[in-house]
Amino acid sequence: MLKTWLARCALLLVVAAGPAAAQDTVRIGLILPMTGPFASTGRQIDGAVKLWMQEHGSTVAGKKIEVIVKDDAGTPDTTRRLAQELVNDKVNVLAGFGLTPLALATAPIATQAKVPMIVMAAATSSITEQSPMIVRSGFTLPQITTPMADWAAKNNIKKVITLVSDYGPGIDAENAFKAKFSAEGGQVTDSLRVPLRNPDFAPFLQKVKDEQPNAVFVFVPSGVGSIFAKQFVERGFDKSGVRLIATGDLTDDDILNDMGDVTLGVITSMHYSAAHPSAANKAYVEGFKKLNGIRPNFHSVGGYDGMRLIYMALEKTKGNTDGEALVNAMKGLQFESPRGPVTIDPATRDPIQNVYLRKVEKQNGELWNVEFSTVPAVKDPMHK
Ligand code: PHB
Repeated sequence: MLKTWLARCALLLVVAAGPAAAQDTVRIGLILPMTGPFASTGRQIDGAVKLWMQEHGSTVAGKKIEVIVKDDAGTPDTTRRLAQELVNDKVNVLAGFGLTPLALATAPIATQAKVPMIVMAAATSSITEQSPMIVRSGFTLPQITTPMADWAAKNNIKKVITLVSDYGPGIDAENAFKAKFSAEGGQVTDSLRVPLRNPDFAPFLQKVKDEQPNAVFVFVPSGVGSIFAKQFVERGFDKSGVRLIATGDLTDDDILNDMGDVTLGVITSMHYSAAHPSAANKAYVEGFKKLNGIRPNFHSVGGYDGMRLIYMALEKTKGNTDGEALVNAMKGLQFESPRGPVTIDPATRDPIQNVYLRKVEKQNGELWNVEFSTVPAVKDPMHK
């Protein structure tokens, strides 16, 4: 009798403790390119997520936060498989996504499973339209490109050739630059597209040199800038008389010092610079370097603020992990990031943020993207 009773109690305890323990943990599946040509993006975001948790702890609204990092090596089929496995394992949130094709491969899985999907890096405008479960913590290409086109038109640049990586964010950058630059009276005389993987810029740079526009506007994703810089110097392009302007993806803080003095004076536009002169950013750069041994780049703030969104949403829902409740809680969130003030646009689930014009300068023997002008609270212009 007593034995049966004890056995029943034990069984009840197991039944009670099982789901309770599971519900007390919020599991985040973080899918990143940790190897391959885009590994710097993975390293930056992973480092930022670790920094966030070191600073803010691993408990929110009574829930324990567990991050599961998976390496997709930048291959969409792998991202899709990993996302499906994580969903089958009942993760509460999917996050990461270092490139547009990786985010696109995962969007239907997030929709079907009703799991929030935090896009920390991929920056093609249309990504957030692919699933109501997507919230973006990074940026969009049209958002950062339009201020560059505006600046060029107002600074005596009349003819421009665009040169972009031939996939989503490159096409976005090309279109956004053309639209704004022509609206401001400039002329895009040619639009060149270079393959994303193993790019050979030499023939394109030669074409630009031959055509002699006032400037070449470049978009290449983080990780490709050093290949570009090498071929840029080899072609003697620095002496071509054609100015180089770009989005800040080119002068990525992670690789800027390795790209070398050829970048001195290059003007770019971006939502984040490691040189951003705020107290919040100084603390961020210091903390990031101490923990990870490298300088943070713009993708890192996508990772850091992506974690912030998850923490803020959980606080708002009081620990409720229902996917739609979390996404709704993220809509309209406002916060002070190392990049400056950010609002999550409730209509598009994209960040509204400052875009800065910057110039590469040398300070204390290191190269920095030094901000000289701020365009406040920029929305993705594709979503107006
Ligand atoms: C993208 O694939 O969307 C992407 C990746 C890296 C960047 C920008 C855009 O720097």
